[in-house]
Amino acid sequence: MHTVIVGSQWGDEGKGKIVDLLAAKNDIVVRFNGGNNAGHTVVVANEKFPLSLLPSGVLWQKKLLIAQGAVVAPDVLLREIDFFIGRGLKVGLTIDFRTNIVMPYHKLLDAATEEAKGDKKVGSLKLGIGYCYEDRNNRHGIRLEDLINKKILKEKISSYFPSVKKRIEKVFGYKVSLTANEIFTEYNMYGLKLKKYAGDVSLILAKEMKDKNVLFEGAHGTFLDGNFGTYPFTTAVNTISGAVFPYCGIPPQKLKVTGVVKAYTTRVGGGPFPAELFDSTGEYMQEKGGEFGTVSKRRRRCGWLDMVMLLYARRLNGFTDIAVTKLDVLTGLKKLKIAVKYKIGNKETEDFPTSLSQLGMCKPVYKEFPGWKEDISKAKKYSDLPKTCRVYIESIEKMLGVPISIVSVGADRNSVIKIH
Ligand code: GDP
Ligand code: IMO
Ligand code: MG
Repeated sequence: MHTVIVGSQWGDEGKGKIVDLLAAKNDIVVRFNGGNNAGHTVVVANEKFPLSLLPSGVLWQKKLLIAQGAVVAPDVLLREIDFFIGRGLKVGLTIDFRTNIVMPYHKLLDAATEEAKGDKKVGSLKLGIGYCYEDRNNRHGIRLEDLINKKILKEKISSYFPSVKKRIEKVFGYKVSLTANEIFTEYNMYGLKLKKYAGDVSLILAKEMKDKNVLFEGAHGTFLDGNFGTYPFTTAVNTISGAVFPYCGIPPQKLKVTGVVKAYTTRVGGGPFPAELFDSTGEYMQEKGGEFGTVSKRRRRCGWLDMVMLLYARRLNGFTDIAVTKLDVLTGLKKLKIAVKYKIGNKETEDFPTSLSQLGMCKPVYKEFPGWKEDISKAKKYSDLPKTCRVYIESIEKMLGVPISIVSVGADRNSVIKIH
């Protein structure tokens, strides 16, 4: 059975760790969305491997694919590839010919727009990902097939870049010193290096899915989905499980859908966050959980687990099971809370609002649970966990109506309890 892994909150749920874990039992790992605004950390024997574009199955030497739904910053990807090759690992990667390339002007546009938004900033990482998707969707994009074709690359950059330059200079008032020729020279060099990785991912999958196990790695999280997330405080791409079909070029079919759920909630950047904590408990989660962005190094906002969010995520993604991560971070808290409803004025709802202004008015209604003080980071089986910890886990399972397959109790690959 093929599996798709998705984040069920606002990203950084620990997807990288879960993908690494499951990659061991799969043959192929496919990254199907997002760009280098994603950051996934895999920890093996105390060594940290931060990844933003390479599928998190790289450490197992699996066949790796980057599908058309992702966007690639070639400099970043080449650095990641070189890192693993430098360590003597084989990087068996194929990138779809149709994958769009993040260009330097996408970054300039991203930075200029964020500045212009003032206090309405999305909190973008300013890596140009949103603009790359804009060009992709509006057919101005440069695909990998163009990057590796000198003549087409030159033509595309020289016909499109002047209008982008005008936009940045005349609309946003920034001086652009970059020239079309400089961009061509740099990106042509990336094309030459990436050429050997180009292929037809859709075709590879059509052949391989017959008798191999494929793991589809989703970046970001459900609430960052460009349509169903907390728009406009989202990314510019779909992050929910169904996106895997058009993004990889495979037909709709039954897949196992594993939702990754952090045992509390975090978010980076702007936008409403009903269960956010502004007190010492939030700081405790932030410090103990090391809640700093892998890419941006920004502090992540922290709050209680939110069942209203998770039920919406279950509805959108069709979870067949969930992996609960970072449970160890809650150790030492006397009381734990889970938001079970939202109050808007004097009305209560269990449905995640469709409107951002309504979400901003929601006050969570909490259910309390006793905490635990025992160190759980060395626990190897479910029965090693303290009773109150098991009650917390089983309550999540019961409220969500989805079985928990994995509980993660530390960053390391081995800090894990498999349940089913
Ligand atoms: P992703 O974006 O969903 O892949 O998540 P990130 O890698 O950006 O953020 C999760 C962070 O938590 C990383 O630094 C992981 O090494 C770490 N992590 C993952 N699982 C656990 C866990 O169970 N406990 C602890 N303490 N850290 C974890
Ligand atoms: P992973 O895969 C957490 C957030 C950014 C910002 C908003 C838009 O590591 O879970 P963009 O750069 O797309 O314009 O940013 O989305 N964001 C993430 N937050 N984890 C991520 O990915 C994120 N990817 C984007 O912080 O608020
Ligand atoms: Mg991350």
